[in-house]
Amino acid sequence: MAAQIIDGKAIAAKVRAEVAEETKRLKAERGITPGLTVVRVGDDPASKTYVGGKKKAAEEVGFNGVEIHLPDTTTEAELLARVQALNADPSVHGILVQLPLPKQIHPDVVIATIDPKKDVDGFHPVSAGNLFIGRPGFRPCTPYGIMRLLQETGVPLSGKRAVVVGRSNIVGKPMAIMLLQQNCTVTIAHSKSDVRAEVERADIVVAAVGVLELIKGEWIKPGAVVIDVGMNRNAEGKLAGDVEFKAAAERASWITPVPGGVGPMTIAMLMKNTLEAAKQSAR
Ligand code: GUN
Repeated sequence: MAAQIIDGKAIAAKVRAEVAEETKRLKAERGITPGLTVVRVGDDPASKTYVGGKKKAAEEVGFNGVEIHLPDTTTEAELLARVQALNADPSVHGILVQLPLPKQIHPDVVIATIDPKKDVDGFHPVSAGNLFIGRPGFRPCTPYGIMRLLQETGVPLSGKRAVVVGRSNIVGKPMAIMLLQQNCTVTIAHSKSDVRAEVERADIVVAAVGVLELIKGEWIKPGAVVIDVGMNRNAEGKLAGDVEFKAAAERASWITPVPGGVGPMTIAMLMKNTLEAAKQSAR
C-alpha cells in the first residue's frame, strides 16, 4: 500500500484564500483592516526568513503587515515597552514576537506581556489555559494547522490511538490536547519513552522532535496517518523530517511530506488567528 500525500502547500493556500475572502468582507462591512505586527530581535538567519514569510502572507491576505526589527543589544525592558505600545495600539490586532530571543531577554516574560486578546501565536499562559480547559482562545499555529490537515483527510479521529512524539510548549503539548479534544486516546512520547513501542500501536503519529528520521518506516502501523513536523537537514543538505518518509509511506494511509506538509500551515493559521483577533476587537 502506498500512502496518500497530505498536500500542506495546497491546504495552506486554501486557508489563506478563505482568510482573504473574509478579510474583504470585514473591511467592507465594518471598515476594519486586520493588523499583524511581527517583532524580530537580533539577526538569527532562520528568524529573518520566517518573519519575512509572515509579513508577506499578511499583505497577501489583505492585512496591514508590519515588521519591527530591533538590534541584538535590545534590553528586556526595551522590548517589553515595545510590546506594551503594541498592546495599546488599536490598529494592531495581532502581536507576534519571533523566537528565539537574544540571551539577555527571557521569552516567558515577553510572552506574558502580550495582551491575550492579541496573542495570535497562542503562547500566552491565558491561551494555553483556555486550550487546556476547552474554552475558546488562540491556538498555537502549528498544531492548529495539523488539526486542519487531519480534518482534510476525512479520517475520523474519535476513538483513535494518537501518539505525539515531542513535548514542547509550541507543538507537542498543545497538539496532544487538541487530539484529546477530538476524542483520541493520546500518548505523549519523549526522550525517556519507548518511542518505537508507542509508535507501533498508534493510528495517528505526530512527530515533533527535531531529530532526522528518528522514526523508522517499519514502526508505522499499516494504515496509520503520519504527520511530520520535523525540519532537519540531511547528509545531502536537503530538508527532511523526523520520519523516514519513503519507508513510512509504504505503510501509512496518509502522510505529510517535508517540505510541503506541516510547514506552510503554520503561517496560514497565523493569518486565521489574526483575522479572528480583528473580528473580536470591534465587539
Ligand atoms: N520561532 C519558530 N517558530 C515560531 C512561532 O511559531 N512563533 C514564534 N513567535 N516564534 C517562532
